[in-house]
Amino acid sequence: MATLLNGIRHLPGYLDRPAQERLVEAIRAVVADAPLYVPAMPGTGKPMSVKMTNCGALGWMTDKERGYRYQPTHPFTGKPWPPIPVELIDLWQSLAGYPKPPEACLVNFYSDDAKMGLHQDRDENDLQAPVLSISLGNTCLFRVGGLDRKDGTGSFRLSSGDVVILGGEGRLAFHGVDRIYPGTSTLLKNGGRINLTLRRVT
Ligand code: SIN
Ligand code: FE2
Repeated sequence: MATLLNGIRHLPGYLDRPAQERLVEAIRAVVADAPLYVPAMPGTGKPMSVKMTNCGALGWMTDKERGYRYQPTHPFTGKPWPPIPVELIDLWQSLAGYPKPPEACLVNFYSDDAKMGLHQDRDENDLQAPVLSISLGNTCLFRVGGLDRKDGTGSFRLSSGDVVILGGEGRLAFHGVDRIYPGTSTLLKNGGRINLTLRRVT
């Protein structure tokens, strides 16, 4: 594939199986408090194939009327998002190379037929902090390009326990998920894939 921009790192198998299981438990508790919902694209209202929720002081969301944004409460329950689990705060401290803690953790749930189009993570005011991404469950094909949508892209697989850091020059790199490979992990009883992204917003 095309070489990754500086500051993009893939750490295969960074989390061992027990650490992955602890994270799944922690995310189950998050989802019990802040249910997964189907986000809608700005303007068109077209549903995304990924289900989402958040934990942290701020959560990323999108709907037809108001588009992409961060907000402190769940769009359907109206409650504050639950706190970011301590395991994720620790992971950020080990890997982010950034003095302040994460403010947002977006939880994406991919069923085996879900995908995510090429996009930039650019709704954060603080672009000095990296985005830290954690994969759990079935393997996916992850696509990364450059800073322009027209730049060439390359793809590689992300397996359960892998971490990706989008930082430095690569903080605004275009990225997306082409597909999920069913049956490639036993971590999630009903299949699918969970992706967690830790972000600093303000
Ligand atoms: C995202 O860009 O929000 C998710 C990336 C992934 O699922 O690996
Ligand atoms: Fe993203």
